[in-house]
Amino acid sequence: MSKARKILVTAALPYANGPIHLGHLVEYIQTDIWVRFQNLRGNRCIYICADDTHGTAIMKSARQRGCTEEQFVAMMHDAHRRDFAGFDVEFDNYGSTNSPENREYCEEIWRALQDKGLIAQRQVVELFDSQTGETLPDRFVKGTCPNPRCGATDQYGDNCDRCGSTYSAIDLIDPISTISGTPPVKGESEHFFVNIEALHEFLDEWTQSGEHLQDEVANYLKSHFLEAPLRDWDVSRPAPYFGFEIPGTHGRHYWYVWFDAPIGYMGSTREWCKRRGEDSDEWWRGESTEIHHFIGKDIQYFHCLFWPAMLRVAGFNLPDKVHIHGFLTVNGRKMSKRDGTFVMAATYLKHLDPAALRYYYAAKLGPRLDDIDMNLDEFVAKVNADIVGKVVNLASRTAKFVESTGLSPVYPDDGGLFAQAASVADEIAAAYESCDYNRAVRLVLEMADRANPYVENAAPWSLKKDPGRAKELQDVCTVALNLFRQIAVYLSPVLPRLAKQTEELLGQPIRHWDEVQTPLVGTPVAPFRHMMQRIDKKDVQAMIEESRESALGAESPKPQPLQDSDEALKAEPLAPTCTIDDFTKVDLRIARVVSAEHVPDAEKLLKLVLSLGGEERRTVFAGIKKAYQPEQLVGRMVVMAANLAPRKMKFGLSEGMVLASGPGGAEVFLLGADSGAKPGQRVH
Ligand code: 2FM
Ligand code: ZN
Repeated sequence: MSKARKILVTAALPYANGPIHLGHLVEYIQTDIWVRFQNLRGNRCIYICADDTHGTAIMKSARQRGCTEEQFVAMMHDAHRRDFAGFDVEFDNYGSTNSPENREYCEEIWRALQDKGLIAQRQVVELFDSQTGETLPDRFVKGTCPNPRCGATDQYGDNCDRCGSTYSAIDLIDPISTISGTPPVKGESEHFFVNIEALHEFLDEWTQSGEHLQDEVANYLKSHFLEAPLRDWDVSRPAPYFGFEIPGTHGRHYWYVWFDAPIGYMGSTREWCKRRGEDSDEWWRGESTEIHHFIGKDIQYFHCLFWPAMLRVAGFNLPDKVHIHGFLTVNGRKMSKRDGTFVMAATYLKHLDPAALRYYYAAKLGPRLDDIDMNLDEFVAKVNADIVGKVVNLASRTAKFVESTGLSPVYPDDGGLFAQAASVADEIAAAYESCDYNRAVRLVLEMADRANPYVENAAPWSLKKDPGRAKELQDVCTVALNLFRQIAVYLSPVLPRLAKQTEELLGQPIRHWDEVQTPLVGTPVAPFRHMMQRIDKKDVQAMIEESRESALGAESPKPQPLQDSDEALKAEPLAPTCTIDDFTKVDLRIARVVSAEHVPDAEKLLKLVLSLGGEERRTVFAGIKKAYQPEQLVGRMVVMAANLAPRKMKFGLSEGMVLASGPGGAEVFLLGADSGAKPGQRVH
């Protein structure tokens, strides 16, 4: 048997300035599929990510909402984690670039750059507010786009919303400081630069070796950057700046957000390692580890030039592969708020099944950088035809006939169908490995196309009518369910929920890729439970309409203002003093939401199954239906009162309470826990 690989995988760190949308999800789902595939193959593969939290856009958003940057990024962190969990994107660690672990790694890399004499300081012309004298970061200046073919007004100092050009704030025409509303003045300030050109030879070799990058990426880097000397990289910003202070600069200089963002991959690994008592350098310096980054094509410049250069200088492992994907278009066009196609993850989850998007993206993703078009009609047709019509159908049409008998004790003659499906295992694995999910899905669907005619010809529903053919009926269903299970195993990286439902139906865990090689025989079959519903076009339309509406309302997400307010305290004064003993009588615990569902006929309730760690589960009916969609809750950490006497309700037994604040209805806010908290931990 080949040795298990030790693989660290990252997806780009989403910027903490807005919510996750369907465009982001292409990458997080693509990466999640790859990680799940690797683990299913028996490798040890971890999925590391974090919020990218620094920079002027965050400063601006926090200022607009009247809160600190830390409060702002904490709120976005919760929102991002919720969105990812809703799509079954499971990170081993979802950290933050604003962490002590990240600062440690930044300092280490900085020291290495300094020791090698690669840092220089020089003056840069910048804008200052004429009233307050503050330096104006690029997002604090607005003016007319300097692109002569554009000329859009009211643009920020870094790039133009309309034409997409990037420039520096001093190039804006008629600039205005957003702090005082007056024209800024020019001045000079000192910046730190990294001499990347010193690594030119190394970067030529690393990018062009054919081992780490897709060919089109290597060619792009060569023709756009590597054929000329590399320009020094400006890695600092003067105060005020939300980020890490550069050591020894007495609060005057901060690392530019793009310096500490990729280092965030290492910081987040260290957060994870600390919790587990591991050493993160094992992953970043160890000999037997692989590092794989998944990113979009807009940020290849940072990941394929600066990032390997920094790692190299500081003596860390280089990425084994950078997997780069294209952008998402919807109905052939750029996602647009006006058309309602700029859909937020949370909006999608209100209307549609996350598994449908996972499947559709997988079916569209190939190993190249081409853009992926989500054609909404095709999305509906494909999910309904492939997953509901061809895959789930295999089980739904046969399982009920073997519910009382279980599977046949000996695997019947199926004309070679099982063996044929088993023989494609390596080909499908190679497709997943090379990110050619489109091919993997096609190969699996071909199996379904062979299995369905088998079921139709054998017609178990007719066999059922003839008691003399019970054995034949059991055999046909045994074949169909085994073929179904092979498909579920092959698709489990894409459709983890379907894999779980298959485990429950057939009573056998799906733990390893090789499970496609051996048919199940003589095992019980549980009653068939609904697996995946057809998508209704009306739900897609409702999602688009909702996205259109929100686009008309506010331009950016709707985080709540975070100003301190004493209104709530006035409305509900504090309760009489209690002793610490009174307080500790209530056993508050961290719990993970394992499942959440609507309770038919209950206007306010959701039924939650909570995990307190290990096998401990509690069912709780919570009055939060108007504030949360069930899909938003799965995977989330909540706080529960775990020793409340169980309460019998009309809908079942409620075994505790989840803690929330707010007056009720849609204004309910669940309490959560910072990352690192574990189910079952006591809350003190
Ligand atoms: O492009 C972006 O949204 C960045 N926040 C990605 C950072 S990836 C890594 F470098 F941290
Ligand atoms: Zn422009």
